[in-house]
Amino acid sequence: MSNLTKNNDSKSRRGLQSRRILVAITGGIAAYKSVDLVRRLLKQGADVRVMMTDSATRFIQPTTFAAITGKQVGLSMWSDSGEPNVSHLEFPHWAELIVVAPATANILAKMRHGIADDLVSTAMLAAECPILLAPAMNPTMWFNPVTQKNMQALEQLGMMRIGPNSGEMAAPGEKGGEGRMSEPEEIEDRIIKHFLEGRTLAGKTVLITAGRTEEPIDRVRVLTNRSSGRMGVALADEAHKLGAEVVFVYGGMDVKPPIGACLYHAPTAVEMLRVVKDKVPQADIAIYVAAVSDWRPATKYDGKLKRTEQDGETFTLELVENPDIAAETAPLVKGLAIGFALEVEDALDNAREKLKRKSLDAILFNRDSNIGSEECELTWVSTQETLPLGEGSKRELAERVMRQVASMLDRA
Ligand SMILES: Cc1cc2nc3c(=O)[nH]c(=O)nc-3n(C[C@H](O)[C@H](O)[C@H](O)COP(=O)(O)O)c2cc1C
Repeated sequence: MSNLTKNNDSKSRRGLQSRRILVAITGGIAAYKSVDLVRRLLKQGADVRVMMTDSATRFIQPTTFAAITGKQVGLSMWSDSGEPNVSHLEFPHWAELIVVAPATANILAKMRHGIADDLVSTAMLAAECPILLAPAMNPTMWFNPVTQKNMQALEQLGMMRIGPNSGEMAAPGEKGGEGRMSEPEEIEDRIIKHFLEGRTLAGKTVLITAGRTEEPIDRVRVLTNRSSGRMGVALADEAHKLGAEVVFVYGGMDVKPPIGACLYHAPTAVEMLRVVKDKVPQADIAIYVAAVSDWRPATKYDGKLKRTEQDGETFTLELVENPDIAAETAPLVKGLAIGFALEVEDALDNAREKLKRKSLDAILFNRDSNIGSEECELTWVSTQETLPLGEGSKRELAERVMRQVASMLDRA
C-alpha cells in the first residue's frame, strides 16, 4: 500500500512522509536543539540522516542522533579501514532537502567560498537539492559585515534561510540580540511549507498504467512489445512530486516501479482491465501509458509448444482481440482521462479520432522511435488545443505533461 499522505497541510498527518532530509549539524551551542528538530522530522514521517562537523560533536554526541534515526551518522570523508568511502557524495545525492541547523558563521563562510575540507562542507558543495540554512551565533558574529555578506551571497545563490531569531543567548553572561537559532518547531514548519510549495496535485489520486502487457502463448513464450515502462515511472514520480497519491498498474517493465506509489502488477490486458476498473472510480486523473497488446492468443498451451507438435513449416497462432482498457474505463474517471498513442501516419487525425472514440480529455501522441528509448517527443492534443511539448528525456517530458494535466484539472 502507498505510504503517502492524502492531505499534507496538517502537521498531525505526517506531512513529510518518506521525504529524504539530510540534517547537517555544525558547531554551535544550539546543536542541542537539533535533537528536537530531528525527532520532529521523524514524527512527520521523514526519512532523516544526520551528518556532523568535528566541532558539532564537541557539543553533542553522534550516538544520540544514531539512536533516534536508527542510521549511522556521517562524521568523516575518510575511512580508517581503507574501504572506499564516498559519503561526501552519497549523503547529499540521497537527500531531497539539506537542512543546516545550526549553521555556524564558519560553515556560511566555507559554503560561500566553496571550501570543502570536511564531510559537511564537501557534501554541501556536491549538493544538487535545495538547502535550508538556520544560522545561529552570537549577535556580534551575525552582524559582522563578513557574515552578512556571506549570508546574502548564499541567498542569492538560491539557498533558503530561516532566522536567526532575537532573544536570549545560551552562553552565560552573553547579551541577548539577533543570533538565536530558530526554534525546532519553526524549522519543522518551514520544511513542511517547502515541500508543500508547488504541490498542485495534493489530495488528488492519479492512476497510471505503464509498461507492456505480456500475453502468454505457452508457459514460456509471450506476445508483447518493446515498451520499457520508463515514461510511466517518470510520470508517477512527477505526480508524486506534485503531491498526488499514485496508483501504478504495470505489466512488464525494464525499469523499477516508482517509490511511494500503490503498486499493482497486472501482466495481461485482461488482468490490467480488472485492476483498472476496480481502482479508477477513486482516481481524479487516469493516465493510460501502458502499451497494451491489441490481441492475445486464443488459447494458452500448457507446457512448452514443441516444433514436433506442428506439422509443416508454418505455424498459425490464432489471436483474439483484447479489451481496450482506456475506452472501457475512461468514462469511470472522476476528473481527467489522458491517453497515450503511438502514431506513425496521419498522427494528428488519428489522435483526434481516438480522443473522441475513447472519451479521453487529452491524448499525447508519440512516434514509434520513442518506444523503449530514454528520449522522446510528444504532442498534446485535447478538445481545445494541440500543443507540441517538444523533445527531451522522458523525465523532462513527464514534467511538461504533468504540468499540462494539473493546469487542465485546475480549469475543469
Ligand atoms: C562554547 C562554544 C560555543 C560556540 N558557539 C558558536 C555558535 O553558536 N555559532 C557559531 O557560529 N560558532 C560558535 N562557536 C565557534 C565554532 O564552534 C567554531 O567557529 C568552529 O570552528 C565551527 O566549526 P564548524 O563550522 O565546522 O562546525 C562556538 C565555540 C565554542 C567553543
